[in-house]
Amino acid sequence: MARVSRKVSAITESATLAVDAKAKALRAAGEPVIGFGAGEPDFPTPPHIVDAAIAACREPRNHHYTPTAGLPELRNAIVEKTRRDSGLDCEARQVVVTNGAKQAVAEAFQALLDPGDEVLLPAPYWTTYPEAIALADGIPVVLPTSDTTGFRVSVDQLEAARTPRTKALLFVSPSNPTGVVYRPAEVEAIGRWAAEHGVWVVTDEIYEHLTFGEHCFSSMPVLVPELADTCVVLNGVSKTYAMTGWRLGWIIAPPDVAAAVTNLQSHVCSNVDNVAQRAALAAVTGDLDAVATMRRAFEQRGRTMHELLAAIPGVRCLPPEGAFYCFPSFEELLGREIAGSTPTTSLELCELALDEARVAIVPGEAFGAPGYARLSFALADEDLVDGVERLDKLLR
Ligand SMILES: Cc1ncc(COP(=O)(O)O)c(C=O)c1O
Repeated sequence: MARVSRKVSAITESATLAVDAKAKALRAAGEPVIGFGAGEPDFPTPPHIVDAAIAACREPRNHHYTPTAGLPELRNAIVEKTRRDSGLDCEARQVVVTNGAKQAVAEAFQALLDPGDEVLLPAPYWTTYPEAIALADGIPVVLPTSDTTGFRVSVDQLEAARTPRTKALLFVSPSNPTGVVYRPAEVEAIGRWAAEHGVWVVTDEIYEHLTFGEHCFSSMPVLVPELADTCVVLNGVSKTYAMTGWRLGWIIAPPDVAAAVTNLQSHVCSNVDNVAQRAALAAVTGDLDAVATMRRAFEQRGRTMHELLAAIPGVRCLPPEGAFYCFPSFEELLGREIAGSTPTTSLELCELALDEARVAIVPGEAFGAPGYARLSFALADEDLVDGVERLDKLLR
């Protein structure tokens, strides 16, 4: 009998966290590493949110369990916030507060999938999705896209991959890792296709507030109300309010699925940290001024990073439309000699970048897209410029 189960042994380490950990370890050892690996805002959480948490710590009522699905006032506030921000109407009984959107992803698939159910997963994908699907005994069916098609999956591609076992589609826009935002007409067409064929949509809206220029977020169940009974929305405060460490996300699901998720969560973690729930309440009921300031900073940094990357010979890079990532292609540089080595994969190229230029970037292999790499622009302007210039020097 194996010591560790087959299911858990099969999980691959989160490459994004691994790159970040390696960069932090090198930095702790005194190396001047610039980390483009982290998928989190570099800003502190806005003060009014922190103040709400401090006040909550002092109140004994917050020293105890909350209902599994979350504080009633927070679930109500999420209903209001969702109506305000995306235009989706839902009820508090449909909301389950989770330990970050990551737990929302895991619980959504646990609640929806039976063994062998297929989930359509456009690539490049966020590394956690295929693992969460597999842990729920589902089968991720990867649909590749490339920079030449703007990293956006088409209805034709989805239809070609549909089988009698297709249970769900994972949809995310703005996207991690590509920074791409689907156009409203595309979101609507995909939603209509899903509704027509009874395919569930799990839509990750965590980057809803981070869109740039003329690009705007659109919520699939708002554009396609027929999806109401077969759509699960995932969201959270991590990216919008610079609250990654607080661990607070949520699921909005049809009432039967929300009830199932609540049952599951009651045995996994009981509830989310009470103080973090109070902080999230302050976040989602507050104004969006701090969010707008952070969004503007990301937009400016994204423009700078894109210009610098696109100027490196052999590198192709689309301008980021949302989130805080550039996802350039390094394909043309593979197989060429760089600093005495000849990387043939983006994985090897990223290792070389860390070893030779002390720049941490995440290889496309982690996102089902070899040949590319992800660079987060959630870091200080000076570091951003210094890091990409180092990369430029290495690759020229
Ligand atoms: C697309 C996407 N969804 C969900 C998450 C999870 O966010 P959290 O668990 O911090 O709320 C992330 C974090 O990187 C993400 O990029």
